[in-house]
Amino acid sequence: MGKEISKIRVTTLRQMKEAGRKIAMLTAYDTITGRWADAGGIDVVLVGDSLGNTALGLDNPTQVTLRDMLPHCVAVARGVRRALRVGDMPFMTYKISPEQALENCGRMIQESNMEAVKLEGGREVALTVERLVGAGIPVMGHIGLTPQSYHAMGGYRVQGRDEAAAQRLLDDAQALAAAGAFALVLEGIPAELAARITAELAIPTIGIGAGGDCDGQVLVLADMLGMTDTRRPRLARQYADFYSLAQAAIQTYAQEVRDGDFPGPENTYGG
Ligand code: KIV
Repeated sequence: MGKEISKIRVTTLRQMKEAGRKIAMLTAYDTITGRWADAGGIDVVLVGDSLGNTALGLDNPTQVTLRDMLPHCVAVARGVRRALRVGDMPFMTYKISPEQALENCGRMIQESNMEAVKLEGGREVALTVERLVGAGIPVMGHIGLTPQSYHAMGGYRVQGRDEAAAQRLLDDAQALAAAGAFALVLEGIPAELAARITAELAIPTIGIGAGGDCDGQVLVLADMLGMTDTRRPRLARQYADFYSLAQAAIQTYAQEVRDGDFPGPENTYGG
């Protein structure tokens, strides 16, 4: 085992890649889940725009706004000390112009105590990434299956399957690294392509549905804890069944209230 790492910073992730130490990243949406992730030894906590379908009941990430995201980022930041805190920039908050991105990403860092932002896209956002990095805002890129392109992709579809599409993703990855991104999420692409990108880049790659050769992995908290009764995507592994646990506890509580078993004497104050 290597030396224990204390506070994780953007620079730490590069050191971890160089040392061959895998990066564990997880989403969180409030102070409690942020604390869970931090106490569990997660390296990077992402307040993902998966907030929309996990916590806000939205259909897809195009409906999530910066106004939705900021209070959740503030709450997560209150629970996370060791892990690097990354705020996901919602749909259409950074693609109109580099100036728009500077303003909105600046708000994410300044108002919500995030330490970095994540944004989706390849070459088309490289200039924006360069401007953000130049302004002191660390940027994590995200290519492949980019959920904010849900409508354009015709749903969630694995990307980079043919040679031309694979080459485009390789070029996108290089462009983002050259623009100064400190890490890159690779989502929903063939494992061989992810391995190739990982080997070619000096910055770490974090995979989700991109095979085991990435420098790290990310999962959506609700998927890995089994928090809902909806179908789990193939790219996720479920480590617990919180939905069933919650149902059992809630049904027992409701029954005990109806039967007069709750509250008991130990829950009751004397006069
Ligand atoms: O929004 C999110 O949770 C994400 C991760 C799946 C990478 O973008």
